[in-house]
Formats: sequence, C-alpha cells, structure tokens
Amino acid sequence: MKFFIDTANLNDIAEAQALGVLDGVTTNPSLMAKEGISGKANILKHYQDICNIVDGDVSAEVIATDFDNMVKEGEELAALHSQIVVKLPMIADGVKACKYFSDKGIKTNVTLVFSPGQALLAAKAGATYMSPFLGRLDDISTDGLHLIAEIRQIYDNYGFETQILSASVRNTMHVINCAKIGSDVMTGPLSSITGLLKHPLTDSGLAKFLEDYKKGN
Ligand code: E4P
Repeated sequence: MKFFIDTANLNDIAEAQALGVLDGVTTNPSLMAKEGISGKANILKHYQDICNIVDGDVSAEVIATDFDNMVKEGEELAALHSQIVVKLPMIADGVKACKYFSDKGIKTNVTLVFSPGQALLAAKAGATYMSPFLGRLDDISTDGLHLIAEIRQIYDNYGFETQILSASVRNTMHVINCAKIGSDVMTGPLSSITGLLKHPLTDSGLAKFLEDYKKGN
C-alpha cells in the first residue's frame, strides 16, 4: 500500500520523506489555508516546493466548479510539475473534467467520494486515484471501512485500474484496516505514519539489548 501524507506543511512532508516510506502528498484548500498559503502565485509556488521535497505524486485541487474553468485551472496545475495530480471534486463537471484529463494522459484524483456509486463513476471516467473519505464517514457514525471494502470489490470485479486512495485517514488503526481491506493508497497526517513505529516491547527490548551490550563492552 502506498503511503501519502495529507498536509501542506513542508516540515511534515520532509520528515515523512526522510523516513523513506513516503509515496506522495495530498493537499486540499483547507490544508493550504491552515499553512497560511493564499493568493494564486503563492499557492502555485507552494505546490512546486512540495514537489521538490517528495518523490511521488502530489495532488493539487482545483477551486473551479464548472467544466471549462476546471480544465483551465487543472491544465495550469499540471504544467507546474510532472508530479502534479489534478484533484477534482465528485460533481458532474468534475467527472467530465476527469474524463478530459484522463484522455490527455494527465493524472487525476477524484475527491470527496462517499458512496460506491460515486467511486464507480470516477473509475468509469478513468481517474488515476479516487478518494473515499474514511474519517468523515466515521465522524457521522457511518462505517467508512465498509465503503472502502465495497469499492475494492467493485473495482476488482471489473479490473478497474483506478487506485483506491483512502483519504481522511486519522489514525494508525485506519492505516492498518485500509491495508487489510486492500486499499491501494492511504493518505493521513504525519502522526498516522510515525504512530506505526510505536510499540513498548520494541522500546524495552532495545533498552535491554543495549544494556547487555554495555555489560560486556
Ligand atoms: C483528501 O484528499 C483530503 O485532503 C483529506 O484526506 C481530508 O481529510 P479530513 O477529513 O481529515 O479533513
């Protein structure tokens, strides 16, 4: 399973990249705002800065909600860097734009997916990635993992090549459960990746090994 980090924070991206397990980055307008990035020139530069840190795909979301402007904005984003993936919302014009970019060989990520039907439409439109929002479903007492399992089955039934990018991952259990279900990618905060390192038996075991080494050296 690929590990993407879901942030626009350059330090977090650099830390995950340095760990050697990072496959890409996802951003959204809220994450960019959280880092205080605003204004077109600053936003475009920030995407380039992210691409220069990570070896892998970087999702950059369009703001437009109509086909013509999605295409215009998406083409501008895609021209920024070869690692840019055009992120499009799961609305009718987003699906049309996804088909347009897929036909041109430009990578896409269809975002804000909350149902199997939406996932099917994204795959039919040739999306590179399709992002079901696991955490946001859990937030409203709906089983987000069940949605991902349903989409896995549908995609496998027909051999769709669209990758399931489990998004809105919030913790390490989400990561592990996504891996068990067969999600192609997961995207979450740095803590969802570094949290996988932690086990008290690892810490106590290492302390004992070092202590025993010191006794004889
Ligand atoms: C997906 O690409 C989104 O950026 C993200 O995963 C949303 O996560 P959130 O529900 O924690 O905001």
